[in-house]
Amino acid sequence: MRRKLVAGNWKMNGSLAANSALIAGIKAGLPADVCDVAVCVPAPYLAQVQGEVAGSAIGLGAQDISAFASGAYTGEVSAAMLNEFACRYVIIGHSERRAYHGESDDSVALKTRVALQAGLIPIVCVGESLAEREAAQTNAVVGGQLDVVLAALNAEDVAKIVVAYEPVWAIGTGKTATPEMAQDVHAMLRAKLAAKSAEAAAKVCILYGGSMKPDNAKELLGMPDIDGGLIGGAALKPADFLAIIQAA
Ligand code: G3P
Repeated sequence: MRRKLVAGNWKMNGSLAANSALIAGIKAGLPADVCDVAVCVPAPYLAQVQGEVAGSAIGLGAQDISAFASGAYTGEVSAAMLNEFACRYVIIGHSERRAYHGESDDSVALKTRVALQAGLIPIVCVGESLAEREAAQTNAVVGGQLDVVLAALNAEDVAKIVVAYEPVWAIGTGKTATPEMAQDVHAMLRAKLAAKSAEAAAKVCILYGGSMKPDNAKELLGMPDIDGGLIGGAALKPADFLAIIQAA
């Protein structure tokens, strides 16, 4: 039985004061041992949030990682730097980075390897656009994105990743994939993982992301291959984030 993971992706939101209030609110209502919980915060706030989640069950995560170890890469944040702030997770290949920062499948695969080598848990994001879904290309696009990552990993490493299926058309739009639509894609992704290693496929958490809210979380999280959520907007409100955790 896979343990569920509910991870907040704060994206480019927050301030010192807002982060403190958000973490305090989550800590105050965090139920004991329901599922794994994480917050993936903007890099400048890693130190702050590291201090504020210390001693709690909330894991810390980053939103990107450099493919390079160190050196002349202005603006990049290395795996070693994330480790210095006790990060456990790092989001890789979010559709916003693919769309606005030219993140390619190959770069996502390389960054996944870099994260694994550093002992971080990569949350590898895949997802199709509305045009691709309407053209019945969802499985080809999403499956193809995962294929490139799987080709770069051995079976042992595959077991250590988290996959997040985030249909681009559902992100921040209030439109959610129905539980059945999401389950279909998750099952396809699980089959791809199983083709690499059945043992790994049984272990890997496949999260759903895209307008997951308290009112739809239970149904989505009730599907057999949906092992948690990657939450955007609702992760910025303690009551909503806690309600999703409770639904897991
Ligand atoms: O990574 C989380 C995400 O992209 C979903 O965002 O705001 O639709 O929950 P949101």
